[in-house]
Amino acid sequence: MSLSWPAIAGVFALLSVYVVRALTPPPNLRHLPKVPLIPLLWSYFSGEVEDVRIKRLILPFAKEGTEGAVLVYAFGRWIVHVIDHKIVKDLSANIALWPKEEPQDEMLLWRFVGKTNVILSNGMNWQRHSRVVRSALGRTIPIADFVLLSKKLFSVMGSGGRLVWDDLTMRFTLDAVGATTFGHDFQAITDVNSPFVKDYNRVMDGIASPLYIVFPKLETWIPRHSVVKKIDALVSMFGDLLEAKKNNMANDMLSYMLEDPEMTDTDFRDNMVVFFIAGHDTSAGAMSSLVYYLAKDQDMQAQARAEVLAALGDDDPDAQNMRNMPFTQACIREALRINTPITYMVPRASAEPALLTAANGKTYFLPPHTSVILNICAIHHNDTYWPNPHTFDPSRFMGQSAADKDRIDASPWL
Ligand code: HEM
Repeated sequence: MSLSWPAIAGVFALLSVYVVRALTPPPNLRHLPKVPLIPLLWSYFSGEVEDVRIKRLILPFAKEGTEGAVLVYAFGRWIVHVIDHKIVKDLSANIALWPKEEPQDEMLLWRFVGKTNVILSNGMNWQRHSRVVRSALGRTIPIADFVLLSKKLFSVMGSGGRLVWDDLTMRFTLDAVGATTFGHDFQAITDVNSPFVKDYNRVMDGIASPLYIVFPKLETWIPRHSVVKKIDALVSMFGDLLEAKKNNMANDMLSYMLEDPEMTDTDFRDNMVVFFIAGHDTSAGAMSSLVYYLAKDQDMQAQARAEVLAALGDDDPDAQNMRNMPFTQACIREALRINTPITYMVPRASAEPALLTAANGKTYFLPPHTSVILNICAIHHNDTYWPNPHTFDPSRFMGQSAADKDRIDASPWL
């Protein structure tokens, strides 16, 4: 059967109408400032790094405190990005009014992370997960395990030469999460062929395909069976770890969580994946940035090194001597600010109409069920609160004056 030209033209016209409608903000959001669509799509498809995109396309709206919220096209819809710290604080203080959104079914990230975990749940359900997670986190700060792993890492690094530091930090934090959270040795530091590292990287590369992130509906129309298969295999490896743990309880977070009678196997598995991602990608990013900025500034590096050596003497780090490193702590906070490992919070939406008020008094009316994302990266680079935001300057976190405290207050996260 062949299609006539009028039929082809009709299909094309219908498709065009659909695409234009999908890419146009809904009428009840058109009063909000909007990041221009074409440069945004170009940025997604050209593979521009996320924080570069934010600084280039979103941050100009926050320049000198002009706007506190802006519409951004992502995940197949228009979402309000909050770029003002006052709005973030107001929302965070009223979390019951702003529940996390139901995750989009088609997005493969949720197939991997699952939906019954602390990061995506709300209300009573969140309280249930949070109670178990907090009690497990609060039991122990396994500094001795981190010291052992650091020594292992140093022995692999040897006495110098060319090293790929961000790869090493990833391996270090993977083993740190393995040891302290699951009581399992992924052998990521010592084994460059560690199956978990390879499988995890493959899965994340598949999930992060720009086309599917921008248009998640494509997962339904043009399913990616091979990525789904890899995700399912990795999730089933977590299931195996869980089963093995049940017969080998030890001094790790998963064992503590398993003591809770209310949690199901799905709860445990989904929280394991959250810990795995939340615990290792984030910390690896933070360690990479810190070392990068200290490598670039030899004076700061020398100052941090002298402080650490003076605080430790011949001892290994512990909770006590780590308190005597104010400059190093400031460097860590500044590294987290300038290159924040988590760019966005999970999207939230209120069932009620809402009026958001920015620090400069500007207001934004949001109709019910508008998707809202707190944009941590944009807030950490707002030049009203962080002068020269692209400069690494730990002194921002050393000052004790009211102005310093006010500025530090400009990040709800640091
Ligand atoms: C530098 C390192 C880290 C950064 C920057 C970071 C950042 C964050 C942020 C911004 C959130 C809030 C997400 C949201 O609600 O939308 C979060 C939540 C969470 N993080 Fe981290 N994180 C780090 C390390 C870790 C580690 C090491 C673990 C555990 C091993 C962890 C476990 C969690 C958990 C369980 C939650 C959910 C908490 C809840 O919803 O009650 N994170 N993290």
